[in-house]
Amino acid sequence: MQVVKYMFQPHGDDRGQLVALEEYKDIPFEIKRVYYMYDTKEDVVRGHHAHKSLEQILICIHGSCKIILDNGVERKVVPLEKPYEGLYVANNMWREMYDFSPDAVLMVLASELYDENDYIRDYDEFLKIVQRQERD
Ligand code: TYD
Repeated sequence: MQVVKYMFQPHGDDRGQLVALEEYKDIPFEIKRVYYMYDTKEDVVRGHHAHKSLEQILICIHGSCKIILDNGVERKVVPLEKPYEGLYVANNMWREMYDFSPDAVLMVLASELYDENDYIRDYDEFLKIVQRQERD
């Protein structure tokens, strides 16, 4: 499994850093939704789902956390700890987010509006979907 990480260009000067993200330029899709998680309690694991068609970029803009990516065959752990790096999460990819530092802010850029029907929340169903796609 290839982990796709984007390194964004910080515009730094003696005042500090600024990162700007534009759809189709820095981000490989139209950004239709932005959400972020903060104040995540210790030992919490979030996610536990895949998406049928949604694509996302995850950016830990403050603090740190870890992301598990699972394509149904392989599982990888990706630490996110820099505000200028983004992890691309394709559709049909199971994800879990954990090990949040108390100050972590995990921001997600998403290619679609929120749609509960796009979620695959059952891991066995996820495996069936990806195995069916590999056969076809
Ligand atoms: P949830 O799906 O549990 O987050 P995750 O699986 O990523 O840990 O979302 C928590 C709540 O927020 C849930 O009530 C649905 C709501 N929500 C929205 O209203 N819009 C959104 O874009 C997202 C991601 C969640």
